[in-house]
Amino acid sequence: MKAKPKLLNSARRRLTLKRNHGGWRQEVERVLITEEQLARRIKIMAREIERDFRGRETVVVSLLSGTVMFLADLIRHLNLPLRLDFIGVSSYGSGTESGELVFTKELRIDVRNRDVLLVDDILDTGKTLSRVLPKIRALKPRRIRTCVLLDKAARRVEKIQADYVGFEIPDYFVVGYGLDYAERYRNLPFVGVLHPHIYNITGQ
Ligand code: PRP
Repeated sequence: MKAKPKLLNSARRRLTLKRNHGGWRQEVERVLITEEQLARRIKIMAREIERDFRGRETVVVSLLSGTVMFLADLIRHLNLPLRLDFIGVSSYGSGTESGELVFTKELRIDVRNRDVLLVDDILDTGKTLSRVLPKIRALKPRRIRTCVLLDKAARRVEKIQADYVGFEIPDYFVVGYGLDYAERYRNLPFVGVLHPHIYNITGQ
């Protein structure tokens, strides 16, 4: 069953930014999804995934590196026996556009005849999942379900949807909660909108 994406709307976003992360205010324009909203939504997603994967030999396959926080929060709420592995894949360059994909780490766990939950932080153009899915399919799992925290459907170029989506977001450049810009901002505990002057200045 598909997790229902949640619409975003909270007056607490600005407050969170002001209270906890004043030092970032010049760079992060505003909080899009608060820590509380993330926590609430991820618990709901975990319950839906649990229902769908109960009784299965489950392998969670997470894409490095943006999933780090989402993955940690999701799997701690998954009351399921599971195995965990990672695929390293990155778009070439450090800018805002998805470029050429480079695989930096392959799967080590055998997924044959097992149920795979493929976890990524954001589904943007869809190029990453479109490249990764055939690689996993070739390893003959019983089935693959995809799970993303954020879905930016407006930017899609590949015909692909995720089975579980945390939040559908507009076409903002978002950082935090694992998501980076030029490898920065991953440690922010919320999802924020990067101020355009940052990527305009660096020109990437
Ligand atoms: C980001 C993100 C997704 C991918 C989504 O990865 O983590 O994997 O882009 O974009 P797409 O749908 O347009 O392919 P990135 O290559 O920036 O690497 P990272 O996870 O290390 O930040």
